[in-house]
Amino acid sequence: MSTTPSRKVFLISYGCQMNEYDSAKMVDVLAASHGYERTQNPDEADLLLLNTCSVREKAQEKVFSELGRWRDWKQQVPGRLIGVGGCVASQEGQALTERQPLVDIVFGPQTLHRLPQLLDATRAARKPVVDVSFPEIEKFDRLPEPRAEGPSAFVSIMEGCSKYCTFCVVPYTRGAEVSRPLDDVLAEIAQLAEQGVREVTLLGQNVNAYRGRMGSGGEVCDLALLIGYVARIPGIERIRYTTSHPAEFSDALIDAFAEEPKLASYLHLPVQSGSDRILGMMKRGYTRERYLDRIRRVRAARPDISLSTDFIVGFPTETDADFAMTMDLIHEAGFDCAFSFIYSPRPGTPAANLRDTVSDADKHRRLDILQTRIRALDDEFKRKLVGTTQRVLVERPARRPGQMAGRTSTNRWVNFEAPASLIGQFVDVEVTEALNNSLRGRLVVAQECIA
Ligand code: SAM
Ligand code: F3S
Repeated sequence: MSTTPSRKVFLISYGCQMNEYDSAKMVDVLAASHGYERTQNPDEADLLLLNTCSVREKAQEKVFSELGRWRDWKQQVPGRLIGVGGCVASQEGQALTERQPLVDIVFGPQTLHRLPQLLDATRAARKPVVDVSFPEIEKFDRLPEPRAEGPSAFVSIMEGCSKYCTFCVVPYTRGAEVSRPLDDVLAEIAQLAEQGVREVTLLGQNVNAYRGRMGSGGEVCDLALLIGYVARIPGIERIRYTTSHPAEFSDALIDAFAEEPKLASYLHLPVQSGSDRILGMMKRGYTRERYLDRIRRVRAARPDISLSTDFIVGFPTETDADFAMTMDLIHEAGFDCAFSFIYSPRPGTPAANLRDTVSDADKHRRLDILQTRIRALDDEFKRKLVGTTQRVLVERPARRPGQMAGRTSTNRWVNFEAPASLIGQFVDVEVTEALNNSLRGRLVVAQECIA
């Protein structure tokens, strides 16, 4: 494959952190194979990529209406190509090109590393190409060297999910859980650390199911052990992971909060509902009491922890009494952050066959009540940080000139006056004010190397 330095790709990415990670990798593989650069201006691009997500709402319809908007763009310049990746591509496969002939390449989350070959194939054959297979871990073996973009990085440690919650499409679009071998994960993180990365977020749909092969023997490494290994990599000072499944949230992971100071004081543990009846229908594999027991132990291990979760409201048959149990759980667990969604039936999932008994009005009312409560708890959490000194990794310039932005261990953004030379360093910041979406602070301990 030849390298042509002036090629530009315009990329539209939907959805979660996994998709963000995959989008960055798409650009990396095309840069390595064809010299592509990402552009924010579609007029200079000869390739448009859509990285889709089908976890919620009418994802398919959104993708088709987005594609329709690119007809003129494609026809204006001969040779322009359109590729669709991600979960919608995985679900639709060949049907995508049949319904929308503008599309030249269809690839899934597990075949994004084959983009260069798919690009060459569609150019040579002048017809659409489709590859949405699940070639297990091959994806990671074929990706170019990791490239740091700042002091904080995502590192995918596993792919797919085998939990099959009744509402969720992920196991069907991303395939079964497959863990990357331990050595591969550690090598990627070490390379990132050499490029200045100080904080990593270990990424997967269900990271506590991580079981990475260790060396050439039959031993496997779980997430708790992996955290210990990552903490020993020179340069890595802070570790996060997401997303965790409560059913597999082991004692060893709880102990890690007590024993590993590099583990950030932040846990995202999706609960979905506070009603045991609904949790059973969702096939989540835990009860409300078991979830609360885990939380109590996590708090004992790390009292200052920020606790985040996901909720679905309006799951089929959810009553006001079920919803009241969810609101009560918010109080008992003491969440300070949450992502909440109205249930949306996903084609091919078991829950999609259930009769949708909750009215739209009730769904929206419940979502509104829940989100108002969570906003108040987030405000309260941030207010409690005012007057404290927080260890902050300086990540990038803030919007205001002269200010830098970084995150606390509890995952709150803080803006404060500081020189750009501090980017990539941990500094102490006294929190002076809690704002709507962030904190304001004052640098209290300047590092020796301030320019
Ligand atoms: N692995 C995670 C866990 O342990 O639950 C969740 C990953 S899922 C891609 C992210 C979130 O999307 C879920 O926690 C859930 O709240 C939401 N979600 C998934 N399917 C949904 C659906 N059909 N309707 C509404 N929300 C949904
Ligand atoms: Fe989806 Fe449940 Fe896995 S929410 S990603 S099937 S843990």
